[in-house]
Amino acid sequence: MGPIPLRVLLPLTVLAVVVAAAAEESDEYTWPQWKVPLVRKRRTVPLSTPEFSAPFQPELSGTCGIECQRRLPSPSLDALEHFLSYETVYENGTRTFTSVSVQGLSEATAWSGNVSSNSRHKREVYGTDTRFTISDKQYSTKYPFSTSVKISTGCSGVLVSPKHVLTAAHCIHSGKDYLDGVQKLRVGILKEKSRRGKGGKGRGGRGKAKRRKGGNGKEEVQEKEEINRKEQRKEKSKGRKSRSRRSAESEKPSFRWTRVKQTQVPKGWIKGAADGLAADFDYAVLELKKAPKVKHMDLGVIPSIKKLPAGRIHFSGFDDDRPGNLVYRFCSVSQESQDLLYQYCDAKPGSSGSGVYIRLKEPGQKKWKRKIIGVFSGHQWVDVTGDGRQQDYNVAVRITPLKYAQICYWVHGTSSECQIA
Ligand SMILES: *[C@@H]1O[C@H](CO)[C@@H](O)[C@H](O)[C@H]1NC(C)=O
Ligand SMILES: *[C@@H]1O[C@H](CO)[C@@H](O)[C@H](O)[C@H]1NC(C)=O
Repeated sequence: MGPIPLRVLLPLTVLAVVVAAAAEESDEYTWPQWKVPLVRKRRTVPLSTPEFSAPFQPELSGTCGIECQRRLPSPSLDALEHFLSYETVYENGTRTFTSVSVQGLSEATAWSGNVSSNSRHKREVYGTDTRFTISDKQYSTKYPFSTSVKISTGCSGVLVSPKHVLTAAHCIHSGKDYLDGVQKLRVGILKEKSRRGKGGKGRGGRGKAKRRKGGNGKEEVQEKEEINRKEQRKEKSKGRKSRSRRSAESEKPSFRWTRVKQTQVPKGWIKGAADGLAADFDYAVLELKKAPKVKHMDLGVIPSIKKLPAGRIHFSGFDDDRPGNLVYRFCSVSQESQDLLYQYCDAKPGSSGSGVYIRLKEPGQKKWKRKIIGVFSGHQWVDVTGDGRQQDYNVAVRITPLKYAQICYWVHGTSSECQIA
């Protein structure tokens, strides 16, 4: 590295004093380093061509949730290897089954999970719509929102590599068969250019308003509030001129659609493989035919939600009730197990498959970094007591070290790049 210019160094030394003072309390908000188990391919065999006949079910019910799962024995290594074995469906409609082996599991499951229970969470919070439409392309086509994609079966997903999308398994496979439409699966990326953007007023300098400040999660709120102010300004000007309202309406988000080359779904999701635990395996990875030249978000693993600023998670997706618009929300997790997160974020069908992310600092660095730590599974009727009584929750599948190993293996095609999360 060359000499550091003075103009960089000077503000840094000033900053260092400030940061040193704040470091003590914020050090805990650091991405932990995990030794990840090794997921390796044992063998791949062809399977019969699927029928692609299953209808899409926007809301799942009868999910064996956190309470229900508590009564189940922990799966053995053999069982886990079975659940993590997976099916691949190719563009030409053919399908294979790959069995895997898992090594180094014991070191990785050091999560001494105490389920944090906060079931007296106020229901009215759940009832209030806390979602935020990111309709301005200034934001929706910029990181982190730009990592959110639409899945042609009606779900959302997130870019986790230059050409891989993580989504929910139920967006691909009903548990019994692949969904109608999976054979022609496509992924939509929000287009930057709109009709209005062309020849419109110059927008230079606006981007500067999007400051990046360190903070303990407050930034997301700032981010939101900032957009909010802008939206309000827009609303006002809309009121003044009906002409600008029309042009705002014509600024409908549009997608650039990309074909999917192959899709991978864990066996644990497929009916009969993991009774009672299937909800834990509601994730799938799609490989795109062409990389969309959009920055992706890395995968990460978190120990416990309690270690997060305000226990807060974030996700953006394409909720059905706001067609074509990207919808962002954040909320606190109210209950967690090793594999699932319950929260009361408001969400409508369509947002299933969204990448759940948080921001923590990289070890030894002051910069905050967002990583995907879960997949939003959706609003579900969860079997709480085991006697058929159901309660509604929003459920997210958490990326455990083991799932990290599997998803990373799918993305990289080798486990050698997946040893540390
Ligand atoms: C379908 O595609 C897969 C992966 O590209 C390939 O291995 C397989 O031979 C193809 N099958 C047919 C029938 O074209
Ligand atoms: C889990 O909770 C129990 C009781 O609530 C407590 O005694 C125990 O220390 C906790 N364990 C961890 C690892 O936090």
